Amino acid sequence: MKNIVLIGFMGSGKSTVGKLLARQLNFQLVDTDELIEKKTGKQIKKIFEDEGEEAFRLLESEVVSEVVDAENQVIACGGGVILNSKNVQALKKNGLLVYLKAFASILFERSRGTNDRPLLNVVNPKEKVHELLKARESLYEKIADIVVDTSNINVNEVVEKIREKLNER
Ligand code: S3P
Repeated sequence: MKNIVLIGFMGSGKSTVGKLLARQLNFQLVDTDELIEKKTGKQIKKIFEDEGEEAFRLLESEVVSEVVDAENQVIACGGGVILNSKNVQALKKNGLLVYLKAFASILFERSRGTNDRPLLNVVNPKEKVHELLKARESLYEKIADIVVDTSNINVNEVVEKIREKLNER
């Protein structure tokens, strides 16, 4: 079967949803951020610090191209993977893109309390979430095959909704 590619903003629940969905479907879970960390032996925030965002984006594209050919995978992507149209093309070739959508205020609350998201490591992270989401939202919507609003539901319900929508196709 085709891959299920989870896209969405930081804090949208891609990794948590991915784990449960992969377990239920008996698919392999692949997490692009984790693969980057494995490949480089460095944490994402360290890559941003030492080499900058551009270098991180190159690694992200490398990892995407390495994973897209296999099947039966749930691929949990970093929130910015969609910024590069080549990544989107590659992920779509063999996969269905599922956008986990949520309000900015909820995304902010969910991504609080950790400092491992370098883009939100700024003086006003709340404002940054709004700004980045505004810039990306229409792109997430446009490229998604399936959209699930996760704002007011729990992980189990999100997985159920995804499975329902997959079955309707
Ligand atoms: C990013 C999201 C992060 C990670 C990196 C950049 C982004 O992943 O890839 O910090 O540009 O939105 P998560 O969405 O899993 O937090």
